[in-house]
Amino acid sequence: MDSSIFAELRAGVATASAEDTRALAARLAAAVPAGTVLALHGDLGAGKTTFTQGFARGLGIQESITSPTFNIFTLHRGPGPDGAIRTLVHLDAYRLDGGAQLEDLMIDDFLTPPWWLVVEWPSKVADWLPPGALHLELGHLPDRRHHLRLRA
Ligand SMILES: Nc1ncnc2c1ncn2[C@@H]1O[C@H](COP(=O)(O)OP(=O)(O)OP(=O)(O)O)[C@@H](O)[C@H]1O
Ligand SMILES: [Mg+2]
Repeated sequence: MDSSIFAELRAGVATASAEDTRALAARLAAAVPAGTVLALHGDLGAGKTTFTQGFARGLGIQESITSPTFNIFTLHRGPGPDGAIRTLVHLDAYRLDGGAQLEDLMIDDFLTPPWWLVVEWPSKVADWLPPGALHLELGHLPDRRHHLRLRA
């Protein structure tokens, strides 16, 4: 198990390409247990959806991931190493205003174990995120690289 990914992301990593960001995300996905909520903070174009693409790949989910903005959330499924079907829920909270709306959308009903949940614009639903959520901050660097850092 690749636990060094946590130390690397906590220290902060600069990536020179979208594929580098996806590769880090895939490593993180392989190292976090089912039931993980991953909050992706960062401005427009910081790489939140790109990170989610790699995260899905690391879970063994082959479906293509695009921005779910018009759907609020999208479901992706694929078999893990043990053959059990994994569910990735990709939530874009940009247009939401608090967690009550997620209860109206019955998102919990879609969290079929084993599941992972990735949230873009998590500050919009901060009241709804569990205390154990992982928080990753993404941003641009002046030299065009992107920066990723896992909150302690
Ligand atoms: N090092 C890098 N890491 C991530 N993305 C990169 C990198 N270099 C270039 N890119 C490009 O930057 C863009 C990041 O867009 P992405 O949709 O992932 O951002 P986002 O944070 O989800 O934005 P939004 O807030 O609009 O949803 C993509 O076009 C990606 O190819
Ligand atoms: Mg996005």
